[in-house]
Amino acid sequence: MKNATLNFVFGPLLFSLQALAQDFPDASQLPPRPELPDPLAMRGGEPIKTKEDWLARRRPELKALFQHYMYGYLPPPPEKIEFALEREDGNYFGGKAAKKEVAISFGPPAMPKIHLLLVIPNAGKKPAPVFLGLNFCGNHAVVNDPSVPPPAGWIYSSCAGVKDNRAAEGGRGSEVDTWAIEQSIDRGYAVATFYNGDIDPDQPDFTDGLHPHFFKPGQTKPGPHDGGTIAAWAWGLHRAVDYLHRDPDIDTERIAVVGHSRNGKTALLAAALDERIALAIPHQAGCGGTAPSRGKIGESVKQINDRFPHWFCGEFKKFNDEPQRLPFDQHCLIALVAPRPVLLSNAVEDTWANPEGQFEMLEAAEPVYRLLGAGGLDAKARPELGKLSGGKLGYYIRAGKHSMTRDDWKVFLDFAGRQLGKRQ
Ligand code: GCU
Repeated sequence: MKNATLNFVFGPLLFSLQALAQDFPDASQLPPRPELPDPLAMRGGEPIKTKEDWLARRRPELKALFQHYMYGYLPPPPEKIEFALEREDGNYFGGKAAKKEVAISFGPPAMPKIHLLLVIPNAGKKPAPVFLGLNFCGNHAVVNDPSVPPPAGWIYSSCAGVKDNRAAEGGRGSEVDTWAIEQSIDRGYAVATFYNGDIDPDQPDFTDGLHPHFFKPGQTKPGPHDGGTIAAWAWGLHRAVDYLHRDPDIDTERIAVVGHSRNGKTALLAAALDERIALAIPHQAGCGGTAPSRGKIGESVKQINDRFPHWFCGEFKKFNDEPQRLPFDQHCLIALVAPRPVLLSNAVEDTWANPEGQFEMLEAAEPVYRLLGAGGLDAKARPELGKLSGGKLGYYIRAGKHSMTRDDWKVFLDFAGRQLGKRQ
């Protein structure tokens, strides 16, 4: 495939979610619930006892609740999407892999474009399973390849080689160890990634990126329930999945999403809202992702909203001092991925991300997995350091700090291998 265009008609789905939300009260009217809300009970308390009721009633309710009160509604899928293969190289990593760089665009030229870097193993006859994830520092940072351009717009000053928030040649290859793509290739997995700023530069405004393109005439910022930056990034991951579904080298039944920290929060949200994603690895995702909003360990709802006011929707700020009013906690987001596998991986020194609370989120999500006949968490307690637990709800904690490393990827590959198998 060289260039292709697709047209979508997804409107009705979005309307039905928002119709469901019509009788959701203002955050201040929600009852305080210090205990974790039961994923298997409707908002009004009615128990959910069958898989059919979970799928038809509770799951859509939770999807609406999370968007209404926390992340904001994702924009609708684009009416038009175009894929252009910009560069390819069949001889990557000494011939072990092929690279494709694909630009994903949405019609109006002013709309953001996703620059997807895809590296696919050459060995094996069948299409390859793939890890898809957002990166922080640009595609040019994750491989040593002079032909991959750095992002053109705003970029984090913490990335290597960045001057005045603009990427430069000095950052090339600086994230090779963070992504360890060759290691995934050797184990039969493709890797697809793009810079999160392609969709929305991570700054506390809505002047650039995706948001302005969905404003009504005269609107200058998102409404209280419109998606924030994390919702926009998740939308971007969904568009990358649209592309992967058109690439014959990719096994569309085995698309795993992965992400570190804020990109991990996004990976989990993307998987919760899109069943085309087969597996999720939100790595050290913490508050607003895999850690509970209730409780006092690690980052709080108020801290995350104060420092990153653009990540979530306006309504979420109303929970700053009262997270116990939330009609869900993050175990319900994990449960939305059921029966698909989820791995929460952590580091001991990363207490900001509350590794202990994350294990509790898996325990609390498990009844949904059991109801769906998917098993769940094999571990009865947090597994020892460096040991991946079994079951569809995986947990892993290693020594060390907040980072994504080659060794973390070994665990991601082990988990994905157990759950999805490798390329035959
Ligand atoms: C900050 C933020 C976290 C986030 C992290 C990251 O520490 O408080 O919520 O996960 O940045 O994205 O690295």
